Amino acid sequence: MAEKRLAKRVFMKRISWQKLDKNIQRSIDCIIKAGKRQGTPVFIIGGTVRDILLRKKNLDLDCVVEGDAVALAQAVARMTRGELKVHKRFTTATVKTKDGVSLDFAMAREEHYPQPGALPVVRKGSIYTDLRRRDFTINAMAVALYGDQSESVLDMCGGVDDLRQKRIRVLHDRSFLDDPTRMIRGIRFEQRFQFSIEPCTMKLFKSALRLNAFASVKRSRLFTEFRKVLKEEDVVRCVSRLHSLGCLKVLFQNAPLSVSVLKRIEETRACLPQNLELGDADWTLIRLLALISKMTGGQRDNIFQEIPLSRREKILLLNGRKTQQLIQQLSVKKMQSSEIYAILKPLAVENIVFIRLLTSVKIVRERIDFYLTDLRFLMLEISGDDVKEITGGPSSQEVGRVLKRLLWQRLNGHYITRASQLDYVRRWSAGVKEISRGTNAKGQ
Ligand code: CTP
Repeated sequence: MAEKRLAKRVFMKRISWQKLDKNIQRSIDCIIKAGKRQGTPVFIIGGTVRDILLRKKNLDLDCVVEGDAVALAQAVARMTRGELKVHKRFTTATVKTKDGVSLDFAMAREEHYPQPGALPVVRKGSIYTDLRRRDFTINAMAVALYGDQSESVLDMCGGVDDLRQKRIRVLHDRSFLDDPTRMIRGIRFEQRFQFSIEPCTMKLFKSALRLNAFASVKRSRLFTEFRKVLKEEDVVRCVSRLHSLGCLKVLFQNAPLSVSVLKRIEETRACLPQNLELGDADWTLIRLLALISKMTGGQRDNIFQEIPLSRREKILLLNGRKTQQLIQQLSVKKMQSSEIYAILKPLAVENIVFIRLLTSVKIVRERIDFYLTDLRFLMLEISGDDVKEITGGPSSQEVGRVLKRLLWQRLNGHYITRASQLDYVRRWSAGVKEISRGTNAKGQ
């Protein structure tokens, strides 16, 4: 009954697929074909609809299926020759198409929260129940991909109007208590789109803060949500707002956060030389290094212990403590290239970029730029096999040692060609044999 009443409230705003990115259009055509073939109603939903209405480019397409989402994803993966990943536990699936579109498929669901902050209990539902379980009105719209209502926005909660009025509004009074990560999300959207949080929603937000709602959520979930904040284009505004509202205390256990350092590195980032090779650096980690730059080792340890980070990421965040010490080491007047290499090589590229952005010491900046564009890619022209062949098979430790010594020489501009490097090894080998003959002779 309720659903019939709600179904009448389809807002007749239309979306035209023709205006969308060509790659997205191709994916939508495949989903429509597969959906029709399987007789399954399919909708695009959530942030995807919001971004289409705002004319923002988004290569992630969220689809809700009133039926078997995994079977539909399998068919779409076959048609697009895309890469399929099935998440059995949640009966959802993702297809990454060859042209860079990411398609998420989920079964239409109904959710309820057994207790505040816990993960919701999920059961099969309809497109209506699925829209009602969402965070904000601007994210609670769907469009049917085929059938009578296709191409018109299903908007039961006033999302189109809120988009026009640039408003972030929750769907019901318990929203932030049920899922406090929505508070972080709300600020993220507020800052990203330069919207405002509607007054009643702000009251609920502040009341949830007073009730310490964040304490009911696992810190790992808070961090996953915060990572998305660190990806935002205007990360400084977003983090400042969260910080001033007191939303980051639980996640960072009241340890000091350096928003000013974050601001500084974002400003310097805009002035980095164009030719600096930073392709593999994860900017979310560099931003995090800035934010925690005033924290002690103990505070870092406590914060990152129960948070989903890889071993590499944990080490990198702990190494952030050494930043000032490394700046000092790199500031000495004369340094050989091999010394710069020896200091920077053990560090993750994110640590190095962070130092580069933080320091105003010219010589340190120059040395880091030299390392990033040049030194770190430098390789020898010979391999361990060459060493073994020349020397008749020393231990791999010895091979490593001689290659390292040769690399040091190479970094400082010596032994550039393969022939000279082979010659170096030959002379080294002869020297070693000489020494060992001497030792044996002494022993005899
Ligand atoms: N959603 C929700 N509550 C959450 C997380 C997600 O209701 N705590 C819903 C929203 O409808 C959201 C959709 O799931 O639009 C997809 O979530 P996500 O991909 O995290 O967000 P997007 O809105 O797509 O935001 P972004 O543009 O940052 O990807």
